[in-house]
Amino acid sequence: MKIIVADNYNALSQIGADLVIGLLKTKKNAVLGLATGTTPIGLYQKLIEAYKQGIVSFKQVKTVNLDEYVGIEKQNEQSYAYFMRKNLFDYVDIDLNNTHIPNGSAQNLQKECIDYSLLLTKTRQDIQILGLGSNGHIGFNEPFTAFDSKTHLVKLSQQTINDNARLFESKNQVPTHAITMGISEIMAAKRIILLASGKNKAKAVYDAINGGVNAKCPASVLSLHSNCTFILDRESASML
Ligand code: GLP
Repeated sequence: MKIIVADNYNALSQIGADLVIGLLKTKKNAVLGLATGTTPIGLYQKLIEAYKQGIVSFKQVKTVNLDEYVGIEKQNEQSYAYFMRKNLFDYVDIDLNNTHIPNGSAQNLQKECIDYSLLLTKTRQDIQILGLGSNGHIGFNEPFTAFDSKTHLVKLSQQTINDNARLFESKNQVPTHAITMGISEIMAAKRIILLASGKNKAKAVYDAINGGVNAKCPASVLSLHSNCTFILDRESASML
């Protein structure tokens, strides 16, 4: 596992974006695994800048997102589908038909998980971008999720609900369930980039890197991947 400690959030975002830009320059039809959360927003802004400067195009790019809340329609501003449009898709030349996000308001959620899993077997990520939960989760794979898990329905932990409450009007508006790509499907990516910024991620970063491979910290599985880079800022790296 490679660890890069950037000076600040802007530098972290640029380093992450440069890895994606490098891929898109050599592989126009790359598959990008995308993450939501506040951490990758800066990276997406850098990708938009690169697109506007004519450095990259998303015309042939396919994307697969990690996760989506259950019970929130994709038009809802709190959905991850809306997040992706407002933070990336609306500003680049991507074909929305090539973008994939689990449907958290599907009638049959179990079937949605199976269908998304099937899609992933045919759409392997060239790069998977990850954020990190303060409890070490990746996607919405909470502590003690099986490492061989595929796309599944999860009940969010109280810590995750508390962390994500800042993005809702009140804690009781935070969905209690989500659909997430499984750990084995994240690990199937050819390359993984995990971004972590800020002091509240320092313990999870420490556990992921120094705690040994342990289901208690899902991100610790990443040390078993052959091409994974952690891009941190000084605060998130402060316990290393
Ligand atoms: C959510 C997402 C994760 C993300 C995490 C951290 O739980 N499902 O994919 O990594 O939030 O979010 P933030 O980057 O806002 O700290």
